[in-house]
Amino acid sequence: MADATRGMVGGGYYDAHSSFQADTAASVAALLQQAVAALTMPADGEVTVADYGCSEGRNSMATVTAALHLLSARGAQGLSVVHNDLPTNDWNTLSRNLSSPGSYLAKYPQARALFAPRGFFEQVTTPASITLGTSGSAAHWLSRQPPDLDMPRSLYRSDAPPSELDKILKQAGDDWLSFLTARTEELQPGGVLLVQMLGTDGSASPVRVSAAGLLKLMNECALQLVDAGELPQDVYARYCFPVVPRTIEEATAPVTGVLAGKLELLHCGLTEVPSPYQLALDKTGDVAAFAKSYTAFTRAFSESSLRDGLFRHGKAGGDTLADKFYALMQQALAERPRDYAFDDLTLAVMVRRLS
Ligand SMILES: C[S@@+](CC[C@H](N)C(=O)[O-])C[C@H]1O[C@@H](n2cnc3c(N)ncnc32)[C@H](O)[C@@H]1O
Repeated sequence: MADATRGMVGGGYYDAHSSFQADTAASVAALLQQAVAALTMPADGEVTVADYGCSEGRNSMATVTAALHLLSARGAQGLSVVHNDLPTNDWNTLSRNLSSPGSYLAKYPQARALFAPRGFFEQVTTPASITLGTSGSAAHWLSRQPPDLDMPRSLYRSDAPPSELDKILKQAGDDWLSFLTARTEELQPGGVLLVQMLGTDGSASPVRVSAAGLLKLMNECALQLVDAGELPQDVYARYCFPVVPRTIEEATAPVTGVLAGKLELLHCGLTEVPSPYQLALDKTGDVAAFAKSYTAFTRAFSESSLRDGLFRHGKAGGDTLADKFYALMQQALAERPRDYAFDDLTLAVMVRRLS
């Protein structure tokens, strides 16, 4: 079964167009401090940090650098960092980032960087080896397309018809349990995991789902291609964009349920992170720059999944349809810049491995 994504657009494109993810990572800075304060320091001071879903590394390295700073202040002696992502991630750009003057390897020459190119729904490191786990903007990705979908006119958690939403939520629930089960095996006793991902507030009316405005636009653009006969209708009906924001209840269910004997819940909460693209628009009024930057941000995280799941099935081929789709998006944003607000709710979950 194919992965739901092959990763972000490489060659530095994701790093250049992920300011929103950088802002969401920064939004959990205080929680990172709490995570480091709450973990059990190994007796020999040798700590291992794992970052799950690291991509090319610009944002991930900022989190890891902050973690190493906090761990050093707690007396850590040896520092190892495991960078995890899919085998198809752009590992070359991550290597280049690690060799750059801004890298934590320049700041902490005694630190060691290790790569774990494997899907994070299974174990990616050795058992009981991780002192601190972090994950930013990654754990909301599904492992695969939910089976047997039939969504001829919708694309996402926020607009799926009820019967199809059940299938999406079943896949998201299974995946989250797999993610946490694997991390539980990898954490040292007393080790802490901090996951930041997209969230949804099921208690609000109407329900607020992160990125619903953007996915509405993506759906409109994709349906233009379907209605023009450029994308097969049956292919579209079987596809959902494989990112699922979670509620607090969904995020905590495995921790208070099947994993309760192994994990302790330290925190779970939602915060709003403003879109940097929207903020720039409000400040400058530059609609063209807004349309360009919001589209590039979207392309950086979405192209691989849309290309494999949809575009490559069109008559014109993946390259042409990808270009057409993002051009449609940019045009719509330039014409109606206020209609597709990202409306983020960032969900942060912190757990500790029981002894
Ligand atoms: C939006 S990027 C986040 C990158 C970085 N953590 C940040 O904060 O900017 C999501 C990352 O999750 C990775 N990812 C998605 N599914 C994955 C899986 N099953 N296993 C490992 N990584 C995965 C993607 O390849 C991508 O690099």
